[in-house]
Amino acid sequence: MGIQIAPSMLSADFANLEAEATRIPGADWLHMDVMDNHFVPNLTLGAPVIEALSKVAAQPIDAHLMIDDPDRWAPQFAEAGAKSITFHVEAARDPLTLARNIRAQGARASMAIKPDTALEPYAGLLPEVDMILIMTVEPGFGGQSFMDSCLPKVAQARELIDQHGGDIWLQVDGGVSLETIERCAEAGADMFVAGSAVFGADDPDAMVASLRSHAERHTQSPA
Ligand code: DX5
Ligand code: ZN
Repeated sequence: MGIQIAPSMLSADFANLEAEATRIPGADWLHMDVMDNHFVPNLTLGAPVIEALSKVAAQPIDAHLMIDDPDRWAPQFAEAGAKSITFHVEAARDPLTLARNIRAQGARASMAIKPDTALEPYAGLLPEVDMILIMTVEPGFGGQSFMDSCLPKVAQARELIDQHGGDIWLQVDGGVSLETIERCAEAGADMFVAGSAVFGADDPDAMVASLRSHAERHTQSPA
């Protein structure tokens, strides 16, 4: 699939999400951060907002569920039009069934891993998912500093994916910028979420292009 850039709409203007999406035509996905004030301290948006944006945006929606009980709530995000749905393994009761249910609804299923969570116990889920998200900050807020301590886990995920084979994407999220994206690409990531770096730039679409070219220069995967 090559390198993909998914700007986080958490850093966009929530009063103008449709217009914000048109400012980043070069983005592969729109990353939408769903927070419930339980799994994470912050509270953001739910399925109705994703449904509204999915109807008007050119890019597909990548929903990142930072919520308790994703087993119960994930289906409504697929119904709302999200093409990729990421749940946290720390919150899921039955991640295998959850991933299968998401796929059965026609969306890509993805599992997310927080900085203090080990990846090994979840390696058996690889056949059930289309993407692994390795968090490079504690989930909950945009604009935090990138955690270099998470990079070995990105490399470990890359090894697992390569051993497994198939088209499983490897996403990083948190503190991704022109300063940090090369390290992520070198560790094996191929899909990059960036919120403050993109929407804090004078020209967000030019920033998407710069992030992509930085990652492409340092990627492990063939061009
Ligand atoms: C954090 C969210 C991220 C956040 C990234 O919990 O999952 O998607 O918006 O923002 P930046 O790129 O500013 O770290
Ligand atoms: Zn996110």
